[in-house]
Amino acid sequence: MFQDKTKITMLMFLIFIINIIIVTSTDLRPGYYSKTCPQAETTVRDVMRNALKKEPRSVASVMRFQFHDCFVNGCDGSVLLDDTPTMLGEKLALSNINSLRSFEVVDEVKEALEKACPGVVSCADIIIMASRDAVALTGGPDWEVRLGRLDSLTASQDNSSNIMPSPRTNATALITLFQKYNLSVKDLVALSGSHSIGKARCFSIMFRLYNQSGSGKPDPAIDHVFRAELDKLCPRDVDQNKTGNLDATPVIFDNQYFKDLVGGRGFLNSDQTLFTFPQTKGFVSLFSEDQSEFFKAFVEGMLKLGDLQSDKPGEVRKNCRVVNARPAHIMSEDKMKNSDLSV
Ligand code: HEM
Ligand SMILES: *[C@@H]1O[C@H](CO)[C@@H](O)[C@H](O)[C@H]1NC(C)=O
Ligand SMILES: *[C@@H]1O[C@H](CO)[C@@H](O)[C@H](O)[C@H]1NC(C)=O
Ligand SMILES: *[C@@H]1O[C@H](CO)[C@@H](O)[C@H](O)[C@H]1NC(C)=O
Ligand SMILES: *[C@@H]1O[C@H](CO)[C@@H](O)[C@H](O)[C@H]1NC(C)=O
Ligand SMILES: *[C@@H]1O[C@H](CO)[C@@H](O)[C@H](O)[C@H]1NC(C)=O
Repeated sequence: MFQDKTKITMLMFLIFIINIIIVTSTDLRPGYYSKTCPQAETTVRDVMRNALKKEPRSVASVMRFQFHDCFVNGCDGSVLLDDTPTMLGEKLALSNINSLRSFEVVDEVKEALEKACPGVVSCADIIIMASRDAVALTGGPDWEVRLGRLDSLTASQDNSSNIMPSPRTNATALITLFQKYNLSVKDLVALSGSHSIGKARCFSIMFRLYNQSGSGKPDPAIDHVFRAELDKLCPRDVDQNKTGNLDATPVIFDNQYFKDLVGGRGFLNSDQTLFTFPQTKGFVSLFSEDQSEFFKAFVEGMLKLGDLQSDKPGEVRKNCRVVNARPAHIMSEDKMKNSDLSV
């Protein structure tokens, strides 16, 4: 009797250990879906290729999800959750409202994957694959992504509002923010090169054009010819949802963004500050002169950004906008898994 109890205890301990090993060894790795959904990566790429054809900007909008997802409790697809009566999600957070877009492209990817391999590929991983594809399809580098993320069961509007940087942010504050995620100054500058594709609203630059730092004047770092263009695009009484290009080649992923910064033609204050502050200026110059250095650093940065993990329980959502319906006993299993993770 006593022996049996010991055996059971030992067995349970063994299971516990194995569980830990599984949780850590199923950590992110390339080819995670090679057996369970071999067509996963080609499916994502096909949908992204069609999205690019249909609306070139949409792939940039999808790529932005990786930043806004991974900085808020790790890359867990939380940014994709719609609000519910009991949960304010991240879509209406300060940096996301009237700004994040093209959620329907992720829906389309998810639908295709649910058809091919139901319940297998997480929304968090879809963001990572689709972001890589957005870059590769617009002329940027291509790389192997590590997969195996789970989707969150919740999202927090406050978390997102508190964390995501505003377009006013200066390089010093951005360095401090990125450091919290173990991202270096080089990572910060390279990842900002995401703004090589896509657009932003007049809303994001009004202060810069007309009242930089409460001075009542424009940001002196803007090239005067470019400032005249921006004034025309975004006059004081403009509909602030109107958009402009983030760099001179907004559907090509290249180092034009950095050339623009060197010329004082950065769109956002958070862009131009990378050239005006000494800590980041060197990397802007380097990337403006050497596109392959930019691409190399960008891939490294995206991998690090994608490795930011959630320490919360997760699942593979069936629909990226809502958590799966779940009976109470599965909830408690999730809690157990979570306590294993935190060992
Ligand atoms: C360094 C700090 C960053 C700041 C302050 C910042 C801020 C912004 C802002 C304000 C916009 C335009 C929003 C609007 O006007 O609606 C924007 C657009 C964009 N951001 Fe960032 N961003 C940063 C870093 C990143 C990173 C790391 C990525 C991707 C990995 C990224 C990807 C994008 C893309 C692709 C767009 C264009 C989206 C579209 O056209 O819909 N950004 N960002
Ligand atoms: C995230 O939100 C939760 C609850 O709203 C809060 O307890 C926590 O401090 C927040 N974390 C961050 C980093 O904002
Ligand atoms: C950068 O921004 C931070 C936070 O807003 C501010 O405290 C700091 O003075 C700014 N640095 C410079 C050099 O403007
Ligand atoms: C950052 O890196 C250091 C050393 O490489 C490590 O000890 C620490 O846990 C990391 N922090 C995060 C948030 O990943
Ligand atoms: C500029 O900003 C300052 C400080 O935020 C504010 O007091 C002032 O009213 C603004 N001026 C204009 C013209 O909006
Ligand atoms: C932008 O459009 C949305 C609705 O599409 C509206 O609610 C919002 O007020 C507009 N924002 C600005 C700054 O005009």
